[in-house]
Amino acid sequence: MTKLLTVFGATGQQGGSLIDYVLKNPELSKLYHLRGITRDASKASATSLRERGVQVIQADLSDFQSLVAAVANSYAVFGVTNYWDKGSAAIEIAQGKAIADAALVAGVTLLIWSSLPNVSLMSSGTLTEVAHFDSKAEVEEYIRSLPILSSFFMAGWYMQNHLSYMRPKLQDNGSIVLSQTWSPTALLPMIDITDTGKFSAPILLDPAKYNGKSFTCATAFYTPLEIVEIWTKVTGKKVTYAQVGADEARGNLTAEMQRKLKKSTGLIDDYSYFGPTGRDGLDWTLDQLTDAPNTWESFVKAKEPWFS
Ligand SMILES: NC(=O)c1ccc[n+]([C@@H]2O[C@H](COP(=O)([O-])OP(=O)(O)OC[C@H]3O[C@@H](n4cnc5c(N)ncnc54)[C@H](OP(=O)(O)O)[C@@H]3O)[C@@H](O)[C@H]2O)c1
Repeated sequence: MTKLLTVFGATGQQGGSLIDYVLKNPELSKLYHLRGITRDASKASATSLRERGVQVIQADLSDFQSLVAAVANSYAVFGVTNYWDKGSAAIEIAQGKAIADAALVAGVTLLIWSSLPNVSLMSSGTLTEVAHFDSKAEVEEYIRSLPILSSFFMAGWYMQNHLSYMRPKLQDNGSIVLSQTWSPTALLPMIDITDTGKFSAPILLDPAKYNGKSFTCATAFYTPLEIVEIWTKVTGKKVTYAQVGADEARGNLTAEMQRKLKKSTGLIDDYSYFGPTGRDGLDWTLDQLTDAPNTWESFVKAKEPWFS
């Protein structure tokens, strides 16, 4: 009999891609059947999940009782919160801990938590306002104290960010420029977030082996200069990189997002996002995978046309 894997954020990028992967993967689909959680089971993305055989349950991360029902009878749970939904660390921490508490109440065996590093600690108190990292790390610390098998999916910088608010812009003079605050030689660990399943598969196949392990989820570290070189190579249009001040860089974001992201600039330049253990963490993680993650070049090719 297959075991139940319950996926939070099922209508979103991480959860949705994990579900896609499990449904298509011959080994995982023999081991697991799926439940997806959404706040609105009537929306089109929820209907599409049902059509593919996923049981859809309506629940809200801010309503504990709904979470207990959401994870009932699950063997494994993938937990993700969306910091940007409310822009509050306190809410994200409460929601993440509530997933863990509900999993305990329901007797879940394995919890995969979508985590990130604690930047305040990593930077010895220098960068204390990267709230959407620190809040996830606080939930991770809580989960590690609980009697449940747990593993941690730490997503790198989404390649998908460059489809929308971090897309290079066509300038009046006809040039195409990616403008960001990062140094041109900073190291950015990039993930095609549709690869969430590739990184979660080892854990789902052998929960005991990966108990307590953190997965550093990216394909590779890329510098901004490499990022634009690959755009140029693939599209045949010259894309350049310009390091700019924080106010110029993020024109499409809300003022609050701009303020918060301004505070995280040093995270990329000085700590390469994952901190000093990032390189080793990535090497170890890639060694665990059976399915290689997509490269930035393959992502850029797949998303053509970029500049029409
Ligand atoms: N962008 C990056 O480069 C990056 C890198 C690393 C980590 N992250 C983190 O990724 C997280 C977002 O994950 P994502 O990209 O998969 O999100 P997403 O595509 O924006 O989708 C958000 C998902 O969360 C669900 N959700 C939000 N609030 C909920 C609530 N109160 N109750 C139940 N479900 C709720 C939504 O479900 P419904 O709307 O259907 O209810 C939806 O499925 C953020 O916390 C962000 O910090 C982002």
